[in-house]
Amino acid sequence: MSIVADLRIAPSLLAADFGRFADAARDCERAGAEFLHFDVMDGMFVPNISFGMGAIRALRPISQAHFDIHLMIVQPERYVEEFISAGANSVTVQAEACVHLQRTLAQIRKAGAKAGVALNPATPESVLEYVMDDVDLVLVMTVNPGFGGQAFLPATLPKVRRVREMIGRTRHPIDLEVDGGIGADTASQVVKAGANVLVAGTSLFGNPAGVDEGIRALRTAAGLSEG
Ligand code: DX5
Ligand code: ZN
Repeated sequence: MSIVADLRIAPSLLAADFGRFADAARDCERAGAEFLHFDVMDGMFVPNISFGMGAIRALRPISQAHFDIHLMIVQPERYVEEFISAGANSVTVQAEACVHLQRTLAQIRKAGAKAGVALNPATPESVLEYVMDDVDLVLVMTVNPGFGGQAFLPATLPKVRRVREMIGRTRHPIDLEVDGGIGADTASQVVKAGANVLVAGTSLFGNPAGVDEGIRALRTAAGLSEG
């Protein structure tokens, strides 16, 4: 029995073999992942560089999954429309990268995607206070963005709880996503704190039995299905 009716698994393709991206996307969807999470990094907002809209455009025709784009880039407003025309279903911007956060969220919705805000571990949830009506998804980073394979930061758990309370006071549905160090060991903590979308890279693609087994183990740990 699920304890969170709308719990969804969002495999991060950052942890996949870049030489077989399409196979990885297919494997995730076949294993029942509802979201595919794309970590876009520019070498400026974060030290690392990953991939851009070309990868998303290439995978769009082969997948029915919700394409969840996480922009770890400076001035994300420059690229919102391009990512959406490439196939994004949701575009999440880092609050720290947006001088005019409300404007950027409205821009994302106007261009036809769900609008998300990501918060670094050191960023308080209060930055959401005046944009809750403009948001469809809040992403609480549970590591500092930039790299896969980092250890989960437990100090982010109270923030997940507080954001869940804020969502409870709004009048429209908002997903609460967590990202970084999520695996069978941390899933139940974040779900209990209120998260309903679990991003995971290393714990899924690093599973020796394959990504499908990784997804199954994560669902079990999150309480979504029986083990
Ligand atoms: C970190 C990214 C994450 C990352 C998660 O900057 O936003 O999506 O890929 O990777 P794991 O699950 O390995 O911590
Ligand atoms: Zn991410």
